[in-house]
Amino acid sequence: MNLMAKKKRILTGDRPTGPLHLGHYIGSLKNRLELQDQYEEFILIADVQALTDNFKTPEKVSQNVTQVALDYLSVGLDPEKVTMFVQSQIPELAELTIYYLNLVTVAQLGQNPTIKDEIRQRGFEKEIPAGFYVYPVSQAADITAFGADLVPVGEDQLPMIEQTHDIVRKFNKLYGETLVMPKAMLSSFPRLPGVDGKEKMSKSLGNVINLSDSKEIIRKQVMKMYTDPTRIHATDPGHIEGNTVFTYHDAFNPNKKEVDELKKQYKAGKVGDVVIKERLIEVLEELLAPVRERRAEYERNKKQVDKILKTGTEYAREVAGKTLAAVRRAMKLYV
Ligand code: TRP
Repeated sequence: MNLMAKKKRILTGDRPTGPLHLGHYIGSLKNRLELQDQYEEFILIADVQALTDNFKTPEKVSQNVTQVALDYLSVGLDPEKVTMFVQSQIPELAELTIYYLNLVTVAQLGQNPTIKDEIRQRGFEKEIPAGFYVYPVSQAADITAFGADLVPVGEDQLPMIEQTHDIVRKFNKLYGETLVMPKAMLSSFPRLPGVDGKEKMSKSLGNVINLSDSKEIIRKQVMKMYTDPTRIHATDPGHIEGNTVFTYHDAFNPNKKEVDELKKQYKAGKVGDVVIKERLIEVLEELLAPVRERRAEYERNKKQVDKILKTGTEYAREVAGKTLAAVRRAMKLYV
């Protein structure tokens, strides 16, 4: 085996609009952590994309850049192995986006189901900002600039990967094999509901557990979790299906045997809500206590965080620059 064989590449990203939460962890961060040895990993803090629907409050985006970096580092992503960087510091991405826009139709952009949902959620129906409408194309630039083979994402991001596939296919056909065709990697866990059982976790609904939350907040959030509304006494047979506490046990409790046992007892009316919640608090605390500790360390040393982002950004820019040069060559741009 050739030990110098190039590692395959991973690219992922998050919009810096607020703290990352357990949904991010189970949907993508966990995969990134597990793959950081095996792959060359790039992680993009997507501040340019975040601006497409936060352009009226740019300070919200810039303030969250370091916060998201802190989330990455505290969860255990190792800056020695992973390249973390800031999208707005890589102008090459903007240039790639401009070229890719030729390969996409307005109709196609309008059919993207995630974009459609977001337009509705943000009340953009009457006036859709053009920058927002085309962000899937800039996401294709993010992915292809780093020659990503694999993109670990949640289900809502699949339309973005499909859009990228289409651009790569068209580009390579028109201008010759230049771009790497990426693959989506879905988390083995389906979407994590909020603590209120609602499908969507969101800060405004107050149903989130952030990676940086204190033990007290974790306790408060778990205690208000929905369980089984049909169950009045702890001795009544309980339901597992749609029971948020068990959804979280399935997602975060590493002891599957214990979870099966708890489910059995719960169904038989032998264990109450408080017991399964107390156990969940312990499980989450085991996951998040070391995260909190690492976070405190980095918070004492913010300069180091800035340095990690700066070094990452420099390297990312070099890699994106090579792709851009290949793209310009393939498109026979004036030299
Ligand atoms: N759209 C992603 C989100 O909302 C963030 C993102 C930007 C991204 N660029 C990316 C994800 C590239 C994966 C790959 O979470």
